Amino acid sequence: MPSTLFALSTLLGLAAAAIESCPANAPISCQTSGTISNTCCTEVQGQVLQTQFWDSNPATGPAKSWTIHGLWPDNCDGTYEATCDSSRAYTDIGCILLDKGHGDILSYMETYWKDYQGDDESFWEHEWSKHGTCYSTLNPDCYSNYEKEDELVDFLNTTITLFKDLPTYEWLADAGITPSSSKTYTNAQISSALQKQFGATPILSCSSGELNQVEYVFNVRGSVAKGQFIAVNPTGTKGNCPKSGIKYLPKDLSTTPKANEGSCS
Ligand SMILES: *[C@@H]1O[C@H](CO)[C@@H](O)[C@H](O)[C@H]1NC(C)=O
Repeated sequence: MPSTLFALSTLLGLAAAAIESCPANAPISCQTSGTISNTCCTEVQGQVLQTQFWDSNPATGPAKSWTIHGLWPDNCDGTYEATCDSSRAYTDIGCILLDKGHGDILSYMETYWKDYQGDDESFWEHEWSKHGTCYSTLNPDCYSNYEKEDELVDFLNTTITLFKDLPTYEWLADAGITPSSSKTYTNAQISSALQKQFGATPILSCSSGELNQVEYVFNVRGSVAKGQFIAVNPTGTKGNCPKSGIKYLPKDLSTTPKANEGSCS
């Protein structure tokens, strides 16, 4: 069957759309000076952040996992451009994934990329249009046989692939840092537990003394779609958590919002 399909597609002159491959020695983003000659193979906003939430109330996602916030491109000094191409502010992202045969990506997102009000689709659309459209290496010009929304799939796939390799819950638990309604932790305890596993210091955010976000910072060699992600310390903010007394509260799953289920036409 696969060979028949191959023969048929060759006969019809169909070639799979694909992002152009980048040289193995493409410059690493934010680690070279001067003008970037190939913005498809070196990310212009080259400080890339995989950001994760810990939502305890309303709770989102599984009890023993952090959830995905997004994958953000920042300039090398920590500032950033946002909402870069309104002509590619795609909607119905769940349906696009199903249409393109990526139900596996969608079901992962439905578990781990959660909106605190249950409006996952709107949250994905917001993350894509605000941040995803700003990647120079995911520009449609970087593709051969480009088909609409190919770069959206690469953005979503890279986001979940990185997230799977950044298991914050396990990394903290390995250091004895587990959710508790009575215990508190110091900034140094949390930072060093994550630093040990990630290889660089992530950004911690708190709200009312409660740990609720971690941002892992990377530079990238090659494109964000297929490149090599290198853990780095952040330039810019180091987060807003206090030095001590940080709460890491158990998720109250009774507060999880019901997901608004869309339907595809
Ligand atoms: C998702 O990314 C992984 C890792 O780069 C890759 O192996 C896989 O082929 C990608 N999947 C899709 C649908 O692009």
